[in-house]
Parts: sequence; C-alpha cells; structure tokens
Amino acid sequence: MTVHFIGAGPGAADLLTVRGRDILASCPVCLYAGSVVPPDMLKFCPPGARLIDTAPLTLDQIEAEYVKAHEAGEDVARLHSGDLSIYSAVAEQTRRLDRLNIPWRMVPGVPAFAAAASLLGQELTVPGVTQSLVLTRMTGRASAMPEKEKLAAFAATGATLAVHLAIHVLDKIVEELTPFYGADCPVAIVARATWPDEVVLRGTLGTIQNVFEQSPVERTALVLVGPALGHKEFRESALYDPDYRRRFRS
Ligand SMILES: C[S@@+](CC[C@H](N)C(=O)[O-])C[C@H]1O[C@@H](n2cnc3c(N)ncnc32)[C@H](O)[C@@H]1O
Repeated sequence: MTVHFIGAGPGAADLLTVRGRDILASCPVCLYAGSVVPPDMLKFCPPGARLIDTAPLTLDQIEAEYVKAHEAGEDVARLHSGDLSIYSAVAEQTRRLDRLNIPWRMVPGVPAFAAAASLLGQELTVPGVTQSLVLTRMTGRASAMPEKEKLAAFAATGATLAVHLAIHVLDKIVEELTPFYGADCPVAIVARATWPDEVVLRGTLGTIQNVFEQSPVERTALVLVGPALGHKEFRESALYDPDYRRRFRS
C-alpha cells in the first residue's frame, strides 16, 4: 500500500500528467481538494473508488483516512493543485506518514506559473533582460512569510516575480515594487488559468490596480511582474547561433 501524492496541475483535467492519470486509475481511494481539483479529473478514478473531498477535513481526519486505507491494504491517490513542490501542504502529511511507517511517493504536476506563462504566450526569462524567476507569495492566514523574504529583496534583483496568493493585496505589491521596477514595468494577472472562466489582465505597475478593479477577478490568481513580460528588444540566445559549438551539431 502506498499514498501517491499527485500534482493535479492548474485546473484543466488534460493537464494532469499521464503518470498521474494512470496512478489515479489504479487507486481505490482518492483524496482531493474539491475547490481546486476539477470534477472531470475524478473520472479517471476506477469505478467504485472511494472519493473524499478534503476541503472540510482537518489534518487529523486526513491522517485517519490514510490509516484506514493502509489497514485495508488500499493504495491512495492524493491530488493537490499545480505541482507539489510549492505551497501544497504536502510536507506536513508526509511527515505524519513517515511517523506511521506508511509508504508514500510524489508525482509532479504542471505548476500554475507555467500555465500562466503559456496563457500569456511568454517566456519568463529573456536573454539580456532577466534570467531568473522568483516564485513567492504574500502573507496569508495559513502561513506568514519569513522575515527576510521581503518582496523588496527579490525586486532588487530585477528578476521576473510570480507572486502567489496575492490578489487580495495587489495594492501592496504595486507599492512595494514600483520603486524598483518603475511605474512602466509590465504586470500580468492570470486568474484561474486553464479553467473555463480563466482571465488574463495586463497593465503596468502604474495601471494594473485600475485594470483589476474593473475586472471580475476575485481569487486563484497569479501576479507576474517584471521587464521580461514586455520586452521585444532582446538579443537572441546563443543556442542556435551558427558559431555556437554543440555536441549534436556537426
Ligand atoms: C496554495 S497555492 C498552490 C500552488 C500550486 N501548488 C502550484 O504548483 O502552482 C495557490 C495559489 O497558486 C496560484 N494558482 C493556483 N492555480 C492557479 C490557476 N489555475 N491560475 C492562476 N493561479 C493559480 C494562485 O496564486 C493561488 O492563490
């Protein structure tokens, strides 16, 4: 018996990986967060599977489901949104499973920032403009930000920022970033990427608050900020340069 933590991707059921889908199809028990996993994805579960929405459950109750499945020798698929490596609350579950000697493994998923970049049709690292992407978040009720991880500290690098769990404090983001990037810096807000009601808003640090206030966006949005989002004047990477010597080019 194994608990399979599976990154469910940003929303669309066909963005679940083939590996994730196959594991889902083989597990008689599936735990999923109802608000972030689309109902279509649960159709991959085998007929008669026990489907448990974890939205109303506490961590103790989720643990009890793992224990129950373990005692019955039933594999469990545990779906979390996006990828498991960021803001997934997987660590607290695997720690409990280790204490209980219940085996587990992780299957990656498409993270929201990658889905958002695809919707924008944009590479987030542009040669000569920025070569770094910072995945960060704003303080929320569930977890506070560590003291040193200030937006300003990341902004000082000029990198592209992908700010999660942030739409409720857009005004703060604008205020903190404008001194570093300038009011003309491009900003994109991508809400519910790959869901039927996805929304893309574009503006600059100077205009985005107004654009947002006129929009229907309320939740599950990513705020992307940085010069890479607007640059057309960049040099091509050396990768395809005729003079660039590569192992696979004679
Ligand atoms: C708890 S975090 C989960 C992140 C997830 N583990 C990932 O890999 O993207 C939730 C936040 O991720 C972002 N997010 C998740 N799904 C999204 C989507 N479909 N479109 C836009 N942002 C999304 C939003 O900022 C949301 O508040």
